[in-house]
Amino acid sequence: MATWKRTHRCGELCTDNVGQKVIINGWVHRRRDHGGLIFLDLRDRYGIVQVVFDPERAADAHTAASKVRAEYVLSVTGEVGRRPEGTENPELATGEIELHAKQLEVLNEAKSPPFSVADEEDTDEAIRLKYRYIDLRRRQMQENIRARHLATTATREYLNSRDFWEIETPLLIKSTPEGARDYLVPSRTNPGHFFALPQSPQLFKQILMVAGCDRYYQIAHCMRDEDLRADRQPEFTQIDIEMSFVEPDDVFEVVEGMLAAGVKAVRGEEIPLPFPRLTHEEAMARYGTEKPDTRFGMELIDVSELVNACNFRVFTETLADGGQVKCINVKGGGGLTRSSIDGPLGRLAREWGAKGLAWLRATESTLEGTIAKYFTEQQLAALSEAADAEAGDIILFIADQPKVVADVLSHIRLELGEQLGLIDRDALNFLWVTDFPLFELDAEGNVTPSHHPFTMPHSEDLDKMATDPLACRALAYDVVLSGVELGGGSIRIHKRDIQERVFPAIGLSQDEAQRKFGFLLDAFEYGTPPHGGIALGMDRFVMILQRMLSIREVIAFPKTQAATDLMTGAPVMVDSKALKELHLRTDLPTYEA
Ligand code: AMO
Ligand code: AMP
Repeated sequence: MATWKRTHRCGELCTDNVGQKVIINGWVHRRRDHGGLIFLDLRDRYGIVQVVFDPERAADAHTAASKVRAEYVLSVTGEVGRRPEGTENPELATGEIELHAKQLEVLNEAKSPPFSVADEEDTDEAIRLKYRYIDLRRRQMQENIRARHLATTATREYLNSRDFWEIETPLLIKSTPEGARDYLVPSRTNPGHFFALPQSPQLFKQILMVAGCDRYYQIAHCMRDEDLRADRQPEFTQIDIEMSFVEPDDVFEVVEGMLAAGVKAVRGEEIPLPFPRLTHEEAMARYGTEKPDTRFGMELIDVSELVNACNFRVFTETLADGGQVKCINVKGGGGLTRSSIDGPLGRLAREWGAKGLAWLRATESTLEGTIAKYFTEQQLAALSEAADAEAGDIILFIADQPKVVADVLSHIRLELGEQLGLIDRDALNFLWVTDFPLFELDAEGNVTPSHHPFTMPHSEDLDKMATDPLACRALAYDVVLSGVELGGGSIRIHKRDIQERVFPAIGLSQDEAQRKFGFLLDAFEYGTPPHGGIALGMDRFVMILQRMLSIREVIAFPKTQAATDLMTGAPVMVDSKALKELHLRTDLPTYEA
């Protein structure tokens, strides 16, 4: 056996081991020279233990210890002792003991690291990503990686216990219908032909239902070539689920149990079940967004009818133009002054699309402010009641078309929620948003599926599909966690006649549909059960559970905002031989988007 083979792990030594001779392996976390005695904190995945080198007791080991530096890999043989009274460290799990070193073997030296593992210093993220193997040694990152492992394990255990099968689906596929840009892979054996990497396993999981698998899941890697943000990566992980013979409630019940198991595993907390539900329409009306943060109130109030007869032209003209007037009540005013509303907050509102930001302040008896003069006492009283205003509150108004009102007020609400400290960072507020619209308008004004073209319309809205597609609701739902879209899914269309009504609504001809999704439509001809499912963002789930602000913190090897990997240097140019084999040329003029 190797001389360095460990008998114990650094972080697991405790008072039970006092008096024992042990061998531990690990990295040098810190080194302190106390004239004579040298103290090394040795670190492994399990924790940190203090090792003492005494020149009187072990001269060779002491000499060796004087040469080691941070992040050297060591094997230390010694005897576990209780720390002298008064020197215990309650911050450390091993703080009651220390290891009296007898021998030290340097298993490997280390270059001076580009940033400290021991000190939680603010390091540029680009450096952290380039040296990810050092970054991942930091305590917070180890906790994040562990939390992810716990969440994944709990998910698998829960779904296995509910009769789901974990089934892998291919990575080299034909395009899927999620609507982002595909990553393409050239086929060497089929010149000019390309595979797409999956944006999700959507079509395969539906085909698994046709195949009689009844309950499927997969912790699936998905690839989408889209613009990146804090909660978006080009490559991310979904907990992907599909079930046969189900209605939305069946999917909700499974997902609620699964998420509760995940929260329990990572945070040890029980969450209340079932999750509250809002229809998409209610969510938009009350919060102005389809992913409301329900950790605080300050809901949007529609006062269009109340202000219809006032003399403030900004409001009345907007209403005459088919617009809306909505407000939020900032309870207690939150220290908002006229200059901050007209200044910084007003500027933000304009950036989000508002034409202005009107306000009224509540006193004991009425509402006052520069626009109060345009209202009768009765109108002010009615506004005050609608906004549930008390002395000191400030009511902020936006008048505009509904989409702008929703966008602006939802942003202001979140901004003030942050600024005024109304958001409990620890709270986990789960919420179902149901009955999403079946279709929406894309940037060019074309009707397009909100979710994907296989989403089942609401039975009550089938008749509107041809006449008023944008008014059709879908059996589509999202699960939202503390204002973040955690997952989305739907009941799928399993009948040809309904499917054939969706394609024309989105301007997809039968031929085109057959070309894009023919394999799915063909499969559907052979006995398709009613089915539905959902996919949840694993990265986002763990990010929130770990109170992180970016999913990059919970992905071992994430990409940058520019979709590059700073550690490996990918993507890279390839040599001309490889290109030739793939029938590709790269010496073309640059493509202007
Ligand atoms: P959808 O496209 O809504 O649905 O994706 C489901 C969930 O995946 C996560 N997600 C992402 N996470 C990180 N980076 C990204 N770029 C990214 N894109 C999506 C989100 C999102 O809620 N096949 C359907 C699901 C279904 O119908 O069953 C789908 O993929 O948390
Ligand atoms: P004005 O009379 O145009 O100076 O506007 C009076 C107040 O109404 C100012 O505080 C403006 O910011 C605000 N305001 C202007 N347009 C809008 C709008 N569309 N919605 C809400 N407030 C507005």
